[in-house]
Amino acid sequence: MNKLSVDLNGLKLDNPVTVASGTFGFGREFAEFFNLSNLGAISVKGLTLKEKLGNPAPRIIETKSGLINSVGLQNPGIEYFIKEEIPFLRQYDTRIIVNINGDNIDEYAMIADRLNDVDVDSIEVNISCPNVKNGGMLFGTDPDIAYKVVKKVKKISRHHIIVKLTPNVTDIKVIAKAVEEAGAQAISLVNTFSAMKIDIDSQKPVLVRKSGGLSGPAIKPLAVRLVYDAYSAVNIPILGMGGIANSDDAIEFMLAGASAVAVGTYNFINPLVTQEIVDGISDYMKRKNISDINEIIGRAHY
Ligand SMILES: Cc1cc2nc3c(=O)[nH]c(=O)nc-3n(C[C@H](O)[C@H](O)[C@H](O)COP(=O)(O)O)c2cc1C
Repeated sequence: MNKLSVDLNGLKLDNPVTVASGTFGFGREFAEFFNLSNLGAISVKGLTLKEKLGNPAPRIIETKSGLINSVGLQNPGIEYFIKEEIPFLRQYDTRIIVNINGDNIDEYAMIADRLNDVDVDSIEVNISCPNVKNGGMLFGTDPDIAYKVVKKVKKISRHHIIVKLTPNVTDIKVIAKAVEEAGAQAISLVNTFSAMKIDIDSQKPVLVRKSGGLSGPAIKPLAVRLVYDAYSAVNIPILGMGGIANSDDAIEFMLAGASAVAVGTYNFINPLVTQEIVDGISDYMKRKNISDINEIIGRAHY
């Protein structure tokens, strides 16, 4: 048997294939297609303290090989998730990663605190949110603010902490190092790239908020490069994502330095894609005579 299990610095996954927050809901719709226990982990839809209705429509625009979304973190709030969704997810033998979001540092801390007596496996701190107290600039674009958010969450939380980085920065290494220093046990990257579509008839941006986030195969080469760069800057494990559509893509991310991968947009195109990726990774290991998947992590650097 080939070894597929990986360890994200304390978060042990049976295999390196997970799903990206916001593209898998809380798993219910996908449970009709396959056994969720086959996933290494599930990162649930981004949660906030209170329910959020999200942005006005249109919220999703299709591009040639991706999506621009402006969902605006629509979610039922942390209390609903704890009561209604955790019992459902806990039926499966997979790890639960809770993606948390806030308008300010205290909100992140309050959600992390609320999760202290809740049975989850990791918290993914999404620092791609606008910092309302700081003119709407993303927390994840300023290393000092990114450090402060993570430091505060780490101080309060008893859980394993992953920090989800935005790719919309000049140098990912600076942000990755800042959150590592603040105590993050792992980083996940990338979130979506800031993007826009303009309607040539109305001559105006299509999205009410003007810009949104680009995801899907279009961003894969950009994301691979950012994972490669981050790997060279930090010693904590990376959960890599951005446009993964098949096992070749997943393996590429691992060679760049990801210890595990997450599939996002492609779940909408093929709900079985994660299962095909797990099988494809096993086939690759046989073909290459690799007995332990950990052997390929970061291999492109050496
Ligand atoms: C519709 C949609 C909703 C998303 N919601 C979240 C979210 O709530 N929290 C988060 O951290 N990332 C969110 N993301 C970003 C994804 O988790 C992922 O980082 C990104 O889409 C890149 O991966 P992909 O190209 O495989 O989709 C969302 C992406 C999409 C397309």
